[in-house]
Amino acid sequence: LDLKLNSKVADMKLADFGHKEMQLSEREVPGLMELIKKYGDTKPLKGLKIAGSLHMTIQTAMLIKTLHALGADLRWASCNIFSTQDHAAAAVVDAKLAKVFAWKGESLEEFWWCTEMALTWEDGSGPDLIVDDGGDATLLVHKGVAVEKDPSLLKKSYDNKEFQVVMDRLALSYEKNPKHWTEIAKKIRGVSEETTTGVARLYNMQKDGTLLFPAFNVNDCVTKSKFDNLYGCRESLADGIKRATDIMIAGKVAVICGYGDVGKGSAQSLRGFGARVLVTEIDPICALQAAMEGYEVVTMEEAAELGDIFVTATGNFHVITKDHMLKMKDEAIVCNIGHFDNEIEMIYLETTPECKRINIKPQVDKWMLPSGRSIIILAEGRLVNLGCATGHPSFVMSASFTNQVLAQLELAKENNLKNQVYILPKKLDEEVARLHLARLGVKLTTLTKEQADYLDVNPAGPYKSEHYRY
Ligand code: NAI
Repeated sequence: LDLKLNSKVADMKLADFGHKEMQLSEREVPGLMELIKKYGDTKPLKGLKIAGSLHMTIQTAMLIKTLHALGADLRWASCNIFSTQDHAAAAVVDAKLAKVFAWKGESLEEFWWCTEMALTWEDGSGPDLIVDDGGDATLLVHKGVAVEKDPSLLKKSYDNKEFQVVMDRLALSYEKNPKHWTEIAKKIRGVSEETTTGVARLYNMQKDGTLLFPAFNVNDCVTKSKFDNLYGCRESLADGIKRATDIMIAGKVAVICGYGDVGKGSAQSLRGFGARVLVTEIDPICALQAAMEGYEVVTMEEAAELGDIFVTATGNFHVITKDHMLKMKDEAIVCNIGHFDNEIEMIYLETTPECKRINIKPQVDKWMLPSGRSIIILAEGRLVNLGCATGHPSFVMSASFTNQVLAQLELAKENNLKNQVYILPKKLDEEVARLHLARLGVKLTTLTKEQADYLDVNPAGPYKSEHYRY
């Protein structure tokens, strides 16, 4: 690591464009602007170092601007090799809001270098707080500590290519300082995690007793997963598919794998364009929901031959397999909107000599298969909305990121949190929603005292019980 390196982005000449887009987004991020107004003077994050690993987009630039306005000292990396918007990264560096290590089209080695750079300040010290998306920054710290406890982990070789890259990086830091990550972990007050996949990793660590610091599950704020995952994907999925392929969606058969929040938004989006949407599910509740919405629920074995467009939205792995790909129609479009590329068995394509890759343009590849047919893979199987388009619009990210900032503020308070996963109180969730009403001209009805008594709720909220599901 070159700790003297200030930042590494693609092109600082893009900063001006980035500034203009950040300015344009201000009206669309009312939650964040309100936080700047509320806490800009008192700066509750003053003196705290925050490392971020989250798609370096214009929306994230506004999150960084907010955390900076609240006093934080920030370093940032993207959480996906394709998701950086280079003008956003340049603008953040130019405005000195954060040190940024991110550009569109990183290699895996560069990606993990960037993650480590975001976690390591000029003097070699680490962050007080982490903002994570998918859990990669948290993973690097935890694996680093695991290696320092048991250096024999470095001698093994790992089948998983990306995991091997992580271990190679950790070998370098272990050589320099065999206590580096242990010291970094000790200082961390906590992490706030953005997405379903990262949250699942945190709960796994909590279950195993290996979680090294407190964590906030931001994803399961209602104003995050029931908005960003659902309405965000409802807009950004089709954007990604269209920018990549220009395909007419109307009349096509689209197959959505997984009918959780992301799947629901994705299915509704493609149906909205006029596609006939098929859904696959493993959970009877979600399968029934899909059926009740009028989608045909099938298995991938059936759907493989029928689909023109396939979208995985499960957070699971190998949901579209080699066998499915071999059955597909010629030039079927295959993409993933879940967090990691292994939802599609990319390893089959990448390691089978008979599978030939023809690059059409960045993030669009035609793969010739032994079936004699071809399929079009978007963003190399990584999340299509951020790889092939610009991710979710600012307004929905404002709700997500307002929750992120509130979680960071909770972690910043000295309040004896344990090494477990926390959720923000419902009152704050309602507050995040409230901050986004005026922009949409929503007129909220106020409960009368009598009505509040009748429902047995406080007229100022929270309005629902903890078990309410929205
Ligand atoms: P979720 O848990 O609500 O939904 C996933 C669904 O997939 C579940 O209903 C599950 O039963 C189903 N599933 C699991 N294995 C399956 C299989 N083999 N076949 C068919 N269905 C299967 O999760 P959510 O919030 O919808 O997130 C899904 C993924 O999308 C996660 O990886 C998450 O991190 C990611 N995500 C991506 C976003 C983006 O902008 N691209 C935004 C938000 C989340």
